[in-house]
Amino acid sequence: MAEQPTTTQPTAKYRADYLSPDYTITDISLEFDLHDTETKVVAVNKVQRLSTEGAPLVLDGDSLKLVRVEVDGQSWTDFSEGESSLTINNLPEQCELLIETEINPEANTLLEGLYKSGGAYCTQCEAEGFRRITFYLDRPDVLARFTTKVIADKTQYPFLLSNGNRVDAGELENGRHWVQWQDPFPKPSYLFALVAGDFDVLRDKYTTVSGREVELEIFVDKGNLDRADYAMTSLINSMKWDEERFGLEYDLDIYMIVAVDFFNMGAMENKGLNVFNSKFVLANPSTATDTDYQGIEAVIGHEYFHNWTGNRVTCRDWFQLSLKEGLTVFRDQEFSSDLGSRPVNRINNVRIMRGPQFAEDRGPMSHPIRPEKVIEMNNFYTLTVYEKGSEVIRMMHTLLGEENFQSGMKLYFERHDGTAATCDDFVQAMEDASGISLERFRRWYSQSGTPVVKVDTEYLPEQKRYRVTIKQHTPETAGQKEKLPLHIPFDIELYNKQGEVISLQCNGKPVHHVLDITEAEQVFEFENVVEQPIISMLREFSAPVILEYDYSDEELVFLMVNARNEFARWDAGQILLAKYIKLNVSRLQQGEGFELPSSVVDAFRGVLLDENLDPAFIAEMLTLPSENEIAGWYKTVDVDAIHTVVGELESVFANEMADEFSAIYHTLTQDSYTIEHAAMAKRSLRNTCLAYLANTEQGNELASKQYTDSDNMTDTMAAMAAANSAELSCRENQMSDFSEKWTHDGLVMDKWFMLQGKNPADNALENVRATMSHAAFDIKNPNRTRSLVASFCANNPVHFHAKDGSGYAFLTEILTVLNSSNPQVASRLIEPFLKYRQYDEQRQSLMRAELEKLAALDNLAKDLFEKIQKALEL
Ligand code: TRP
Ligand code: ZN
Repeated sequence: MAEQPTTTQPTAKYRADYLSPDYTITDISLEFDLHDTETKVVAVNKVQRLSTEGAPLVLDGDSLKLVRVEVDGQSWTDFSEGESSLTINNLPEQCELLIETEINPEANTLLEGLYKSGGAYCTQCEAEGFRRITFYLDRPDVLARFTTKVIADKTQYPFLLSNGNRVDAGELENGRHWVQWQDPFPKPSYLFALVAGDFDVLRDKYTTVSGREVELEIFVDKGNLDRADYAMTSLINSMKWDEERFGLEYDLDIYMIVAVDFFNMGAMENKGLNVFNSKFVLANPSTATDTDYQGIEAVIGHEYFHNWTGNRVTCRDWFQLSLKEGLTVFRDQEFSSDLGSRPVNRINNVRIMRGPQFAEDRGPMSHPIRPEKVIEMNNFYTLTVYEKGSEVIRMMHTLLGEENFQSGMKLYFERHDGTAATCDDFVQAMEDASGISLERFRRWYSQSGTPVVKVDTEYLPEQKRYRVTIKQHTPETAGQKEKLPLHIPFDIELYNKQGEVISLQCNGKPVHHVLDITEAEQVFEFENVVEQPIISMLREFSAPVILEYDYSDEELVFLMVNARNEFARWDAGQILLAKYIKLNVSRLQQGEGFELPSSVVDAFRGVLLDENLDPAFIAEMLTLPSENEIAGWYKTVDVDAIHTVVGELESVFANEMADEFSAIYHTLTQDSYTIEHAAMAKRSLRNTCLAYLANTEQGNELASKQYTDSDNMTDTMAAMAAANSAELSCRENQMSDFSEKWTHDGLVMDKWFMLQGKNPADNALENVRATMSHAAFDIKNPNRTRSLVASFCANNPVHFHAKDGSGYAFLTEILTVLNSSNPQVASRLIEPFLKYRQYDEQRQSLMRAELEKLAALDNLAKDLFEKIQKALEL
């Protein structure tokens, strides 16, 4: 079946237009007869009318061949088929509606609905993929009990899986067999899943706090059993953590995870049957880096935590997506922080906020965490909904405290378990359980953009007072001009010269260190402050805002050493670096040389040599902001100047601290490889040292020796990344050796594709183009495409933004192909173009021309249409 080209202009849906459904479906029984090009799907629905008599039943459908319709066992002809719907007329108040459709999984390159990944069948239904399987009320507020019968060839597909419990099975003629599944929990269609294939299975068991035995099964491609252990460990840790921290227990007798190679996103929380991108399951020391292991822990946790926050309580409509995603990201971040290093996790989450999320807020797709208007729902699985959504939950946690927050969670489940809820319902539960007003706080759900908090301080020695003036304003964003003051939890601490905390006191009373900022301007006068204090602000990144304050170098160095909390120390270091990056970018633009006071280098040297600090934290302190994050500080981005300055800063640090880096590099050598946190922390710092040392004369020798000696992927990749970014002569041998060794394994080759994409060499684009004919590359596989193309277009700014427009032309070529084969992936890759207004005139007009070319495609997908239209709007 050919995909339907979009002939009419796609239309938007508005949050304000929500209407409850005219009908619901209480039960659905599905039967799949699986065949590569013509799979038969029979759906028997128990339909119940909710509205007045006479309303037609309008079902969603997409790329389906309708075979027959029956009502209560009789053939039914009173229906009409629209472009993406099936309207059935004159139905009784209650009936059994049978619909038979035929679909073509093999032709499904969108990876949405039922498709084939390698040799296996699998499904992806969120957000609106179920309508590509059968005609249905494909909206999250219709909750039905599902039973699913799967029929397929027994030798090719020995495992037939779906949601819930396996209740029956049998054999058929022609070597086919069937399995019947039943899910006792009513659920929306987006949580449906089916998998059929041949796998290796890793099995384990978990006993819940109340003594329920749960079978755990992880399905991986044959031959990959030795890469599933960490996923299993992470699953068990997740189940235990959710019981201990949130009091939430698993509710079925079986939990299955299937790893597939072709997948548009990270993973999917289908009830009892998670489907995962194999990137977030498969790992062993020789194939996966420490970062990969951390990703697996986080994503396994995330999908598991959805069982309560997402599945037991789901979303009323897709505008409420952050209800489940923001909350579940918050939960997975807490999980990773409780199990590993809290400061390191926080730093990395904040980096994502300040880099890509703030960038989203500034761009044409800017939207509140609860969007008002959507053309293609897949475009709203964004950093704003997920990461900023999590920050909004975190702010409530900060305002309420753990105990009140947990009472709020309890009340939320009491009220909404088994139903489809809204973001308002969640906030209401938190408010009711804690008695703390969240009235103004609710604005975070409707207001888009990044607030700017500007602080001025004044010490009044006569009165022994410290006056802190805090102003907030949110700049206008695409689609939302008017902004109101928000409720910002603003965490501060004051220090005296000895680094001791000065207790906060206003009007004779102690004041909590988290200030409630609710107005456009507020003044706080702290009393009994006997000397000029040093202020630490936005501690723990207590709100997703930009802080503006004129810190002196001395204050920042003081905070790097003395702030009581590690996050604040890191943040002070970042502010100090930002100052000198900005200074040197403007010096460079004026033809002046690079300049960095030795006091700045000494401050970082002090951190590097501090033996009381966690090595992983030291590594974070010494990691410079990315070129993309820096780009966000400017109205007009000078990619070349930013790149040069970052390079010079790196090489000044490298040369000034070469002895220290070298000494630490050598002391942190480990005898044997383990994935314990302490071992990871040492590798992290050691490889940070290597990245700096790559810029010195020892660089080539060290990187080349590390590559040869390495017994794990973390050290191998670190050696290659150092060689790649410092353009060392060992790079070429490493790259060809690695490719020879791993060509058969796409997932491992993704690391190599990423390095090709980020290659700083002059002929980077030429290399990227050549790499597209590598045996392991496949433009139909989203992981491969993202590794190579997104790393070039999003993370190699100098070459992507080449003045001759060659990088832009390349992206358009790729997008033109993906627009037809997989618009969801295309829509993620187009992001660099959407920022065109932040570049100089020449680049702006080149990028604009590419967007116009794409806009003129005659089969332009909704996904790209929505973004291009917004980007080109004046
Ligand atoms: N709900 C999934 C998550 O946990 C993400 C998701 C949404 C998704 N749409 C998808 C995954 C499409 C794969 C494909 O975050
Ligand atoms: Zn999620």
